[in-house]
Amino acid sequence: MRHIPGAWSRAARGAGLLAPDGTAVATIFAEMSALAASTGAINLGQGFPDEDGPQVVLEAARDAIARGVNQYPPGRGTPDLRAAIAEHQQRFYGIRVDPDREVLVTAGATEALSATLLALIDGPDDEVVVFEPYYDAYAACVALAGARLVPVPLRRPDFQPDPDELRRAVGPRTRLILINDPHNPTGAVFATEVLDEVVRLAERHDAVIVTDEVYEHLVFDGVHVPIAAREDAWHRTLTISSAGKTFATTGWKVGWVSGPAELVDAVLAVKQWLTYVNGAPFQPAIAVGLRLGDDVFRKMAAGMRGKHMLLGDGLRTAGFDVIPPRGGYFTVADAAELCARLDVVDADALCRILPERAGVAAIPLTAFVTPEHRAEYATLVRFAACKRVDVIDEASRRLATLAG
Ligand SMILES: Cc1ncc(COP(=O)(O)O)c(C=O)c1O
Repeated sequence: MRHIPGAWSRAARGAGLLAPDGTAVATIFAEMSALAASTGAINLGQGFPDEDGPQVVLEAARDAIARGVNQYPPGRGTPDLRAAIAEHQQRFYGIRVDPDREVLVTAGATEALSATLLALIDGPDDEVVVFEPYYDAYAACVALAGARLVPVPLRRPDFQPDPDELRRAVGPRTRLILINDPHNPTGAVFATEVLDEVVRLAERHDAVIVTDEVYEHLVFDGVHVPIAAREDAWHRTLTISSAGKTFATTGWKVGWVSGPAELVDAVLAVKQWLTYVNGAPFQPAIAVGLRLGDDVFRKMAAGMRGKHMLLGDGLRTAGFDVIPPRGGYFTVADAAELCARLDVVDADALCRILPERAGVAAIPLTAFVTPEHRAEYATLVRFAACKRVDVIDEASRRLATLAG
């Protein structure tokens, strides 16, 4: 294919997907999903649920369509959804936000992230500190915005950053510190001391803190505590979340960002040229979801925790060394022994044979790491636990055949 100029190549390079001949390489997610489809494997690669969330939420969307809520909603999001987001922040975290000035509805957390980066990055000297491994969109969006990605490694056993490495990563060029808590792909929940250090460093270097909290309701022991709940951090923090993971509506792409009005305004100034507005009938439905009782949210977390435990048992039987997650959709497991036994070099090679060999697809952790740092994560594999119990049972049965 002839070379097509444009920013796409920046994003592809940022995401480690630019081939030496200048063409884009498919993501491993697409590759593994295609492999799963062609082999009939159970796809534990991509993180989307295979069953519906609360019926009242689905019903509210159907009702909204029937009532004619089908035209452009306001650019900031419907007043009712913004009010529901503000109530949610107050109810769960004690954070008071003004729904008219400090909340913006976006096309999922992904648009909130990309619009935030495009809005707040000034030029190529700006740096964005992220925790590595990271959700794959981060590197691509940072590159699109024209900044430099500065990764801080998260290592086994608990995937918390080393304080010295964190301090070394943040400096006068740091424009943003981007933190995903609970964390995809590792399942880590960041320790209070880590969050304290992030706030201290952001203050010292006048950086904006951007938090990606899409798994906020999937914490397995204790409760989620957003950085924005701290009085000393609120004024420099943009909090991003999404309805997708909480209500099993990943295909609706309703997300939001909240924070100080001047920062939210800057994000809106970019967002309006990206999507202008987002799915009208889904907004009243997500407002219904956010106002559901505490017990509904507790049950969601307990249900997901049970699925992780089931999956963990299956992975251990198959010969993986499981690192139990503390939140989110994913379980990470070390396949070092299994790789040796099956005579494959690393988790990437293992994931490529797993669909054919065991009828299950998964993603190597190297997909979430800059190319120079891949060796450190070479034996780790990410499995999605956000599937029906019978699907996890069947995946476990299939994986058990690896035990020999
Ligand atoms: C950490 C993280 N952030 C953001 C997203 C994307 O959220 P959305 O679908 O709302 O854009 C995902 C989805 O997998 C994720 O894992």
